[in-house]
Amino acid sequence: MKHIRRFLGALAKKLMPGWKKQEEGTRKLPQWVFECEPGPISDEIIKDRWDGNVLHCANNKYTSPKLGYVRRRGWGGLAPGETHYKYIAEFLDLRNLRVLEMGPHEGHHSILIEKMGARESVAIEGNMDNMAKCLRIKEKYGLTKTTFYQANVEELYNNKVPAPFHGRFDLIFCLGFLYHLPEPQKAIEWFAKQSGTLFLGTHYVEKNAEDKYRGNFEKGTITHNANIYNGLWYGEYDTSRGSGGTLDGMSPRSFWLYENDLVNMAISSGYSKVHVLGKDIVNGLPYIYILADA
Ligand SMILES: C[S@@+](CC[C@H](N)C(=O)[O-])C[C@H]1O[C@@H](n2cnc3c(N)ncnc32)[C@H](O)[C@@H]1O
Repeated sequence: MKHIRRFLGALAKKLMPGWKKQEEGTRKLPQWVFECEPGPISDEIIKDRWDGNVLHCANNKYTSPKLGYVRRRGWGGLAPGETHYKYIAEFLDLRNLRVLEMGPHEGHHSILIEKMGARESVAIEGNMDNMAKCLRIKEKYGLTKTTFYQANVEELYNNKVPAPFHGRFDLIFCLGFLYHLPEPQKAIEWFAKQSGTLFLGTHYVEKNAEDKYRGNFEKGTITHNANIYNGLWYGEYDTSRGSGGTLDGMSPRSFWLYENDLVNMAISSGYSKVHVLGKDIVNGLPYIYILADA
């Protein structure tokens, strides 16, 4: 085995002289790769820190000055989102659709939704600082088909406030959002009332990797309409802070479901066809992509 590996190594060196060995534990990168961190492009109006890569999203109003191979180190935040893009490109056709986007954060997917041809897009964001950035991005990138509303979706699905929009949608675009909620079952039922199709990407509890959920996680169940769902409670933020940050939920804890429980929840919420598109690791934890149809 050792000989074969040595032989293949020598062969690779001969055929691809550009390959260089990186430090221990990292992937080998060819020399033509230059690394670029998602920062530090800044905005001339909102000068403080931006969490993600939205200022690097090219469109006909703006082009990133430099595109490079971005290698995430540790917590990648919402950096390039390669895994999301893979599923978006492979499974979605948004041309002419009316889309409801949940938790747009700084609006990086909102740009994509317009670029992919949505007829209209409505995005609901709960955090005020994120909302200011979404509005800035709408102006900066000339998003003419997207409307951002500030609302806490927990208040929408609990009927505490009326929805800021009218009518039904062709698709709900829900990435990185469900695992911030304490009552995912109510959210999914509310989604089903807004649209017959749900594109969902969320962290879930992978039963074969339970040791990965350390720290703020605690085993639990939730009961809804006589159904019992298993999962883990997650402490969203330090409650002494009063509220969450720009990447947190609106309540101090959220509920993460096992795959079967998530699929069953979607079915009992009115989605008759629930396709698991695939699974990935996002920011170090298992993540699942689902397309559900009524
Ligand atoms: C982790 S970010 C995900 C951003 C983006 N959708 C993505 O997948 O890259 C979660 C976003 O959801 C928002 N959010 C969380 N809970 C919310 C709630 N109850 N109502 C409205 N927005 C919420 C957060 O403010 C944040 O912008």
